[in-house]
Amino acid sequence: MSGLDYQVCIAGTGSYVPEKILTNEELAKRVDTSDEWIFTRTGIRERRIAAEGEFTSHMASNAARKALEQAGMEASEIQLIIVATITPDTITPATACYVQQQLGASNAVAFDISAACSGFLYAMKMSKRMIADGAFENALIIGAEKLSAFVNWEDRTTCVLFGDGAGAAVLRRAAPEEGSILATEMGTDGKLTHLLNIPGGGSACPITESNVNDHLATLAMQGKEVFKHAVNRMKQAAETVISRADLQPEDIACVIPHQANLRIIDAIAGRLSVPEGRVFVNLDKYGNTSAAAVAIALDEANRSGVFKRGDNIVMVVFGAGLTWAAAAVRW
Ligand code: COA
Repeated sequence: MSGLDYQVCIAGTGSYVPEKILTNEELAKRVDTSDEWIFTRTGIRERRIAAEGEFTSHMASNAARKALEQAGMEASEIQLIIVATITPDTITPATACYVQQQLGASNAVAFDISAACSGFLYAMKMSKRMIADGAFENALIIGAEKLSAFVNWEDRTTCVLFGDGAGAAVLRRAAPEEGSILATEMGTDGKLTHLLNIPGGGSACPITESNVNDHLATLAMQGKEVFKHAVNRMKQAAETVISRADLQPEDIACVIPHQANLRIIDAIAGRLSVPEGRVFVNLDKYGNTSAAAVAIALDEANRSGVFKRGDNIVMVVFGAGLTWAAAAVRW
């Protein structure tokens, strides 16, 4: 068949964060920092840390179960699972395969994508297209990260920023009276790979006996440079989807940005001309959970009634790569 173009809606959302809270005060006992420094520079107060034996796939599955429940679907009905993560359980197989097994979603095709903090919206765009063209009837997309396993806990410039968690959404063909994903945008600038990366642990730089103490398999970042690009790219991406969806900034009931830094969020909010007070923020509780961040925020905003059926929302993200993405959705 050709020429199909089904509308695609978000039928359910879910999220999960580990129980263990690590506060700024506790971090200040480990490295030379303070609650005041962290909060004023980033807006973060605390983050969650996965328990011993708790992996990215476990958090992903917990978030997915809640999204399935809200969508009123059984795991066996799911046809496609995409996990966006930079902290997979294992390099291979994909974390999505473990999730498929944990959920009992045995009819689903499952794979991971690696687009750092932009991964959840990359997954949304891909799965939207795959449902729209009739290849799949539904998809479970998940952003899940155990960043605590890839942070150098002796480096105060990075360890204060990140946390663990997962968020999920069920996408399916929309009925005519339902909302839908109106517009999406993604972008990449591979010239800037050096600004934010995990340099070791891959084939370019395996961890060996001679470099095992160099913390090469942990996040390294040029924070100031990343900051500048994040603001510009997220502003452009959000404006693109608002315009592609044929909307005006004042039509947007809620903007859900990547939760990395409150100053980045404020800078974007100021440049977007969306009315004040419509930007959702929860990074004070979780820090930057990379691919999980926008997914957790979407679920919290959804469940707390920040927007309602018929409202227009915009999600916008940015991350290593550099990558960025946005989506405009009528709920
Ligand atoms: N506690 C106390 N001092 C710290 C610190 C910490 N946790 N981390 C860095 N510092 C110090 C630095 O060593 C530096 O000291 P110096 O002037 O004596 O050299 C000083 O604070 C300023 O550091 P700088 O890196 O210039 O701070 P900043 O204002 O740029 O803030 C970030 C740092 C990381 C908070 C900020 O650059 C940022 O948020 N960038 C974007 C990062 C991001 O969100 N990335 C993810 C995108 S997906």
